[in-house]
Amino acid sequence: MATAPKHGDGAASARILLIDDEVALSRMMEAVLGDSGYQVTIFNRSFEAVEAFQSGSYDLVISDIKMPGMDGLEVLQKIRDKDERVPVIMITAHATVETSIQALRKGAYDMLTKPFEPEELLYRVKNALQANQLAAENRELKRELAQKFSFDHIIGASSGLKAVLELVKKVAVRDTSVLITGESGTGKELIAQAIHHNSPRKDKRFMAINCGALPESVLESELFGYKKGAFTGASADRKGLLEAADGGTLFLDEVGNLPLNVQKTLLRFLQEQEFMRIGDTRPIKVDVRIVSATNADLLQEIEDGSYREDLYYRLNVVNIHLPPLRERRTDLSLLAAHFIRNNNGKFGTSVQGLTPEALALLTSYDWPGNIRQMENVIEACMTLESGEQIGLPVLSQFIRVAAVAPPPASPASDLPPGDSADYSQALTDFETAYLRQLLQKTGGNVEEAARLAGMNMATVYRKLKKYQIRKEEFC
Ligand SMILES: Nc1ncnc2c1ncn2[C@@H]1O[C@H](COP(=O)(O)OP(=O)(O)OP(=O)(O)O)[C@@H](O)[C@H]1O
Ligand SMILES: [Mg+2]
Repeated sequence: MATAPKHGDGAASARILLIDDEVALSRMMEAVLGDSGYQVTIFNRSFEAVEAFQSGSYDLVISDIKMPGMDGLEVLQKIRDKDERVPVIMITAHATVETSIQALRKGAYDMLTKPFEPEELLYRVKNALQANQLAAENRELKRELAQKFSFDHIIGASSGLKAVLELVKKVAVRDTSVLITGESGTGKELIAQAIHHNSPRKDKRFMAINCGALPESVLESELFGYKKGAFTGASADRKGLLEAADGGTLFLDEVGNLPLNVQKTLLRFLQEQEFMRIGDTRPIKVDVRIVSATNADLLQEIEDGSYREDLYYRLNVVNIHLPPLRERRTDLSLLAAHFIRNNNGKFGTSVQGLTPEALALLTSYDWPGNIRQMENVIEACMTLESGEQIGLPVLSQFIRVAAVAPPPASPASDLPPGDSADYSQALTDFETAYLRQLLQKTGGNVEEAARLAGMNMATVYRKLKKYQIRKEEFC
């Protein structure tokens, strides 16, 4: 006899409704299925079974076809009327093609012909339950995805964010290139995904690449692919992201970091919708929408000669600018509540919100690292906070680092919270202190520091260079 089903294979302790007028056969099936851990309920009269059946009360129905009174096909129909999804296996002694087709048309999952071996019964039952579980998971994923990419998960009621979302709705359906600008952590990638998922390309792929994170040669082969033998190590042809995203959207993150050479190839692609794999001479045509993002000042880069103006205009057909969080203060408490809810779901906690003093600090602070910083800070607070609300002592541990907005009670400050005289100086102070603290914590490990900060490694390296922080100091 087959071994008992384990958890996770879709069968453990599943509830099975068994309908068969033959008492001996139904007992035999009950024994076989019961031995394997299933919970079986038998009905020898079909109309009683149909009466008792309630949507959601069974995971599987097994019904004989030939029964006095109400036959199996009618049973199937009635069960379907009450529950569209429960899998039904029909049993028959004479599986004519016609009855099989009829049963399958009415929504039976499988047919089992008498006589059958116990193993066969178990195999079919397990199969039906697994298929049903997969279908349920699939429905759940689709639902989650639809929810994730509706605008519901983009939190905020500020006029700044509303204007952005209005623009997103409009540009999503046009097929133009979009450049999303905004400081680090303002939600550029989230907006890029929203554009794709609300566009006619939504059923094709959204591919993303961080142009600041990869060395030039790797970036090129990631984008355009290569032909076998193009360089040492190119042992087979390989598609790049442009081909993988055919029909869909390619998101070029940190597009300001594209090396000049790659800028040239990308420009050619944008002009002609054609490119060549590295080492190849055959042009490849693809239909890809380019959405890009940057927190750099591209106009300045153009002036400095490190960015092509013609590429800039191709990428920036429509510009969506995400205002920093300090310019959309009405979103602060909504976002905090959103992240608390998310983390409650993730950690199984039930934090209710922030104390009034903590909320006052949160809403007066400038959040130089924007939404990503708030997401990280709330998560950190929730790992430390043992009360029902996040309190000032815990919150101020994380946002005092900035030295921009000490908690209101601090006498050391001569500036009111969030009212730094020079924003860029405040940001520098914050980032320097923050990075030093991260490196301290990770013993100079940049990869780990980037992971903790939720930033990519290239960004961390860039900032270390900018603020002249040497990771070796912390090793
Ligand atoms: N309006 C919003 N509502 C809810 N979550 C948001 C919102 N905006 C951003 N987020 C979340 O904040 C985090 C940072 O957003 P995202 O990665 O899109 O920012 P970014 O501008 O691309 O940052 P970076 O410049 O660092 O790459 C993500 O986890 C994102 O889901
Ligand atoms: Mg990003």
